[in-house]
Amino acid sequence: MNTVSPSIGHESDQELQARVLQGPLPRHVAIIMDGNGRWASLRHLPRVAGHHEGIKSVREVVTCCRELGIANLTIYAFSTENWRRPIFEVQELMLLLELYLKRELPALMEQEIRLTTIGRTDQLPSTVMEWIRRVERETEHHRGMTLTLALSYSGRSELVDAVRRLVVDVQAGRLDPAKIDEEVLGRYLDTRGLGDPDLVIRTSGEYRISNFLLWQVAYAELYFTKTLWPDFRRRDLLMAFLDYQRRERRFGRTGEQLRNSDPMAQDPTDERGPFGDRAG
Ligand code: FPP
Repeated sequence: MNTVSPSIGHESDQELQARVLQGPLPRHVAIIMDGNGRWASLRHLPRVAGHHEGIKSVREVVTCCRELGIANLTIYAFSTENWRRPIFEVQELMLLLELYLKRELPALMEQEIRLTTIGRTDQLPSTVMEWIRRVERETEHHRGMTLTLALSYSGRSELVDAVRRLVVDVQAGRLDPAKIDEEVLGRYLDTRGLGDPDLVIRTSGEYRISNFLLWQVAYAELYFTKTLWPDFRRRDLLMAFLDYQRRERRFGRTGEQLRNSDPMAQDPTDERGPFGDRAG
């Protein structure tokens, strides 16, 4: 829940951003962009008007994350469940996606942002796929930030696909079942190499994960705000980061261990037990 104090209202975006930069920042931010339809309905506009306005929020959030030095930003742009929407809306979202890729390529180049995708992208229209491949190819050498679009994505289908690939490798004798652990399974996921999200933001006042990065959110901090996605801009993102900076990330350990800066306490990837063994 959004718990940042209202006194922040006095500060300009710039001042807020400078303050955010003084605290710890998440390496990987994942966002469930929700509320486009409601934003449009409130203005007696067609639902797609909300998606159009939502693109402006995407642009602002991407730029702000880049400025703050966030390494990974993953946004839920189209879920496998979204295919069930009215055909007109699906077509419009596909057109919008294509437009976004075409229009944003220069900005991604300038900001040295690498674009990648996760999800069953083979289900997308071929024109969209061509643009995805082109933007992925042209930005693959960028190291400024990785922007991942989750498209035709769901956490469960990602896990199903990963298990299928893993089983093929086991059957072919390339993978020993006894050696399968969390790290190995992680390598079969679409998100391999990205690292788990530290912070998940969901807009529009819904308190659900909706099949997003199910495996990867195990230790993520969750931030829910009532703000609808098309209204979620730089300031709202900065508020989310300020809220994140007040959280105590314990990864299963005690607050005391953290305060005594136990060398193991801050590392979420370290699964050693009390005797130095790796937890199974
Ligand atoms: C949820 O709002 C939003 C989506 C299903 C799509 C998000 C897409 C965009 C912001 C534009 C395209 C993005 C890119 C990166 C090109 P909703 O329609 O479910 O809203 P509602 O819950 O109010 O109906």
